[in-house]
Amino acid sequence: MRVTVFGIGYVGLVQAAVMAEVGHDVVCIDVDQNKVDKLKEGIIPIYEPGLTPLVKSNFEAGRLQFTTDAKKGIEHGNLIFIAVGTPPDEDGSADLKYVLAVAETIATHMQGHKVVINKSTVPVGTADKVRNKISDTLKSLGKETTFDVVSNPEFLKEGSAVNDCMRPDRIILGTDSEQAEKLLRELYSPFNRNHDKVITMDIRSAELTKYAANCMLATKISFMNEIANLAERFGADVENVRRGIGSDPRIGYQFIYPGCGYGGSCFPKDVQALVRSANAAGYQARVLEAVEAVNYDQKEKLFEYINRHFSGDLKGKKVALWGLSFKPNTDDMREASSRVLMEKLWAAGASVQAFDPEAMEETQRIYGVRQDLQLTGTKEAALAGADFLVICTEWQAFRAPDFEAIKAALTYPLIFDGRNLFEPTRMMEYGLHYYAIGRGL
Ligand code: UGA
Repeated sequence: MRVTVFGIGYVGLVQAAVMAEVGHDVVCIDVDQNKVDKLKEGIIPIYEPGLTPLVKSNFEAGRLQFTTDAKKGIEHGNLIFIAVGTPPDEDGSADLKYVLAVAETIATHMQGHKVVINKSTVPVGTADKVRNKISDTLKSLGKETTFDVVSNPEFLKEGSAVNDCMRPDRIILGTDSEQAEKLLRELYSPFNRNHDKVITMDIRSAELTKYAANCMLATKISFMNEIANLAERFGADVENVRRGIGSDPRIGYQFIYPGCGYGGSCFPKDVQALVRSANAAGYQARVLEAVEAVNYDQKEKLFEYINRHFSGDLKGKKVALWGLSFKPNTDDMREASSRVLMEKLWAAGASVQAFDPEAMEETQRIYGVRQDLQLTGTKEAALAGADFLVICTEWQAFRAPDFEAIKAALTYPLIFDGRNLFEPTRMMEYGLHYYAIGRGL
């Protein structure tokens, strides 16, 4: 099938690559000429396991094209995905200017019938706005072309995006058109084997499903972080509590890992956006407001432990930091807990010596060259001459370190672990003073 994807970000690029992989003929459009040129050379703008070979081989096979030429792209596809960003406005609500600009462009160039599919995470009611934008533009141009608008939210996770798209749990189709549903079922049929994963519904429910999914997961995390905070005060161990409640299949083990807060491009943005949409609809989303507030505080947690340990005297301290990305297997630093920590440490007069397997270039891009930030080539080098160690991301490479070497390298035998990677009793045996989240101080 001939498919066009607007927006070569995370969602757009991965979705385009897997669609090409199963044989669809995909054209990707982006306004960023530099990004398009690089992709043509096989340079992928993001780090995502398995993505580079997928993009390269499908580009070489001619099934995946990159261009800035919107007209060409719109002529190409009868299925047109909108996968551009919806950055938060100043007040946290999703900004639709890019989505609506694409809608206008589609209307300007479309000739025959098109199915326009919203992949971006967009507030409930956006499909109507896209529909109106296309209709108004067509009218102003005196065109009478027909089209459908479908909501088809994406549920991929960074770090396992290719796999998530290849083997989706569910394919949500919000549509009011039988014809569009038929085409999308056909498009997704290579990913819809074993059992039917397509769930069809009205457009607004599909739009809300995306927010509800992310907000539910964020709620689980903030809830667990709250329990961790209680465990600290009650002298309990949250890791025992986690195992205890996760064994109830109604609760489950997933997304109940306490830590130094959730980050990334989705949870913080989507929780805030749903709170704002709720307000606009005259409803105060109290659960979600609390989810956000708990997470905000949680990101300051490691700094609080550190500051308390040193009685507020952090001036001149050199901090070894393992993990910068918001989670493992990505170089994404958006809303990462490490940023809150580093910025607070710097403000307190400490310096940071950090290692991350993938996110160091991104860290450099964000913070530039500064005296109080050293990025080191290995996790061991980050320890050299440092006063203590802090862990912000649970990369596999951090799970079984040489504790004797850590102790020898640090001024103080002290670890602050924002991801609960080690057993406190073991740390005690090594003679390491160990702070974790909700495990008794
Ligand atoms: C999230 C959702 O999981 C995807 O289903 C969704 O498609 C995506 O957002 C999106 O809307 O695009 P992602 O942001 O890639 O995916 O990352 P997650 O794996 O969900 O992790 C988010 C944050 O929660 C990370 O900072 C992670 O460290 C934290 N987390 C996760 C916890 O603190 N505890 C947990 O138990 C799980």
